[in-house]
Amino acid sequence: MRKNIVAGNWKMNTLPSEGVTLAQEIVKNFKDNAVELIIAPPFTHLSEVSKVLSGSAVKLSSQNIAKELKGAYTGEVSGEMLKDISVTHCIIGHSERRTYYGETDEIIAEKIQTALGLGLTPIFCIGENLEERKAEKHFEVVEKQLQIALENVKSDDITSIIVAYEPVWAIGTGLTATPEQAQEIHAHIRAFLKQKYGEDKAENISILYGGSCKPDNAKMLFAQKDIDGGLIGGAALKSDDFLKIAASF
Ligand code: PGA
Repeated sequence: MRKNIVAGNWKMNTLPSEGVTLAQEIVKNFKDNAVELIIAPPFTHLSEVSKVLSGSAVKLSSQNIAKELKGAYTGEVSGEMLKDISVTHCIIGHSERRTYYGETDEIIAEKIQTALGLGLTPIFCIGENLEERKAEKHFEVVEKQLQIALENVKSDDITSIIVAYEPVWAIGTGLTATPEQAQEIHAHIRAFLKQKYGEDKAENISILYGGSCKPDNAKMLFAQKDIDGGLIGGAALKSDDFLKIAASF
């Protein structure tokens, strides 16, 4: 069956030295084997944090990946570079990348192919913004995001992807989707995956919820049938909160 996963997206927060301390606290206090724990620090931290995680159950993710493999792409970081320092996952298509850095569904599709080709696990983000939610277009929006980004993902590869549903209106705002709202759209996402890849595959794909997920609401969210964990922003920056969320299953 699919895994329970809690992933911490640190975004552009903490200095490298602070990141090492945070990672040390997480490794030291993480005891729960019922959940896969992943942290995604900034690029500058990955090498040192990787050493901290070595030998522990905590996995390491980047927050982005270059779609190209190598060469003259100033400012980009390749998947092979990440793999060389034991990064196993990469967040792809986060709404902040889509909104501030112009990442389209097509670019995200390429990044997913690059990651899969290198054996990195994409944490692939989708979600509607507030206007789209108000206009009741959220199902349509996530379906289109899934359709384009997964267009060339083969059946053999689909269970190597983690999907993260993050309503943009809930990210960093303190507004959380209700467990019912989240379950409804998670079920819709799984139905899409079932239609494209069949029931067995769809049942084995972890779909995470993200957007102001905190220790006090994680339990209710994770109790929903199609919510398999969380992608955590703000609350991932405090080891106590992050581990409390991980213990919510
Ligand atoms: P948040 O961020 O938990 O701070 O809302 C979630 C995310 O953007 O992944």
